[in-house]
Amino acid sequence: MAQQEDVFKKIVAHAKEYGFVFPSSEIYDGLSAVYDYGQNGVELKNNIKRYWWEAMTLLHENIVGIDSAIFMHPTIWKASGHVDAFNDPLIDNRDSKKRYRADVLIEDHIAKIDDKINKEVEKARKRFGESFDEAMFRQTNGRVAELVARREAIHDRFSQAMNDNNLDDLRQIIIDEEIVDPISGTKNWTEVRQFNLMFKTEMGSTADGAMTVYLRPETAQGIFVNYLNVQKTGRMRIPFGIAQIGKAFRNEIVARQFIFRMREFEQMEMQFFVRPGDEMKWFQYWKEWRLRWHKALGLGDEKYRYHDHEKLAHYANAATDIEFLMPFGFKEVEGIHSRTDFDLSQHEKFSGKKIQYFDPELNSSYTPYVIETSIGVDRMFLSVLSSAYEEQKLEGGDSRVVLRLPAALAPVKCAVMPLVRKDGLPEKAREIVDDLKFDFSTHYDEKDSIGKRYRRQDAIGTPFCITVDHQTLEDNTVTLRHRDSMEQARVNIADLHRLIHDEVSLNSLLRKLK
Ligand code: GAP
Repeated sequence: MAQQEDVFKKIVAHAKEYGFVFPSSEIYDGLSAVYDYGQNGVELKNNIKRYWWEAMTLLHENIVGIDSAIFMHPTIWKASGHVDAFNDPLIDNRDSKKRYRADVLIEDHIAKIDDKINKEVEKARKRFGESFDEAMFRQTNGRVAELVARREAIHDRFSQAMNDNNLDDLRQIIIDEEIVDPISGTKNWTEVRQFNLMFKTEMGSTADGAMTVYLRPETAQGIFVNYLNVQKTGRMRIPFGIAQIGKAFRNEIVARQFIFRMREFEQMEMQFFVRPGDEMKWFQYWKEWRLRWHKALGLGDEKYRYHDHEKLAHYANAATDIEFLMPFGFKEVEGIHSRTDFDLSQHEKFSGKKIQYFDPELNSSYTPYVIETSIGVDRMFLSVLSSAYEEQKLEGGDSRVVLRLPAALAPVKCAVMPLVRKDGLPEKAREIVDDLKFDFSTHYDEKDSIGKRYRRQDAIGTPFCITVDHQTLEDNTVTLRHRDSMEQARVNIADLHRLIHDEVSLNSLLRKLK
């Protein structure tokens, strides 16, 4: 575990050092849970977004995109339930004056018990060596059985309190378990209160009577309120989908783990409108299709799992998360939700406008049901970055850090390097850049030794390095070096375009989804 934490710290440091992610407002000591994407980060992020957008809108003829405004009429958030129910349970420590999420304090406490259990198991594994039977040990060891029983009891009580929205019992668990504030070390806790996660601001001048508006906490509502516009102007027939990528804002109380939980983040959401009664078939379709989209990137099939929700939101009749193995464990990256006709019906009720679909095949009108796929761009970025990061020991005692990014997502596709800064090699290298740059993001690099230049490109995940040497001037060939294998091949300049394109194009990635 400690080792994993070290790796995570290294990834965060690497992201900063190589221009992927910077803390926001850093020269003013930062702004908690807000981050900026640097010169390489923005390219990687844009490539992730393109992969999603094109997979949705090019590969599905019945999905179109929109880009709705962040500000929306405040009644939308009343209708969607966010004003009344988009809350986290909060608790304050009177001594440290720090605020915590009550559920997170309890979850962390449960995680500590899990750690204790795992430590006992590891100790026994060392003691018994090869003959160790973990399942048997967990069942029969007195200390472990006691810890497991205690963990289960807390977990059951916690789930019940969360299900019932019982804030008093959440507090009582904290008191009974003697959970202390990590800063003050005391148990001087306030009551638990609900805290709404939406950011508020005012629109219009106060003299005219300003209106309270919210920064959207999800992009989905922008799709729901445009359902009629898109269906009518696009003459869309059910089943059809509307996709959108955009910023969302949540005043997260416990914001941690780098870009995993942010206050300003980006979502890629698609609402798929279906006939009532068909929703389970489409839920299954999207659940499978979305996992295929993830797996096509080649980050490792074993790093994904589904987490089906047992407890469903009152408007949902099925929900699952796609979880990815981050350096801090399996975590939700995407949600697939069957939201019934809840949102469209609510908007019909609150706006007074009829939101229905006339189905020519059934010769009747209904409120469509919705399957939603919702993925966080930043969490996707973190999965890609963390699985790509690799420290390698090389022959001869050398080492390198390489980002084994999927080539189609890499911020820079190729770097062109003259072996020396004379004899016409820089000019020849520039010629190659001037040709390739129309199709690929191409770097020119002539500083430092060739080895150092390779390392710099490895560290940002550039799939190809092209070296121009004296032989190039004679026969128009260059060396083409592959990032992962570090193998070099002598190739004709005329073939470069094709060789690079075959590996880095988004098109070849999309074709895997056929
Ligand atoms: N419209 C449904 C919806 O917003 P959600 O599970 O609350 O569902 C969907 O969010 C996705 O948005 C999550 O799976 C996650 O990837 C991303 N997300 C949510 N909150 C986030 C945060 N504070 N920081 C970064 N990403 C977040």
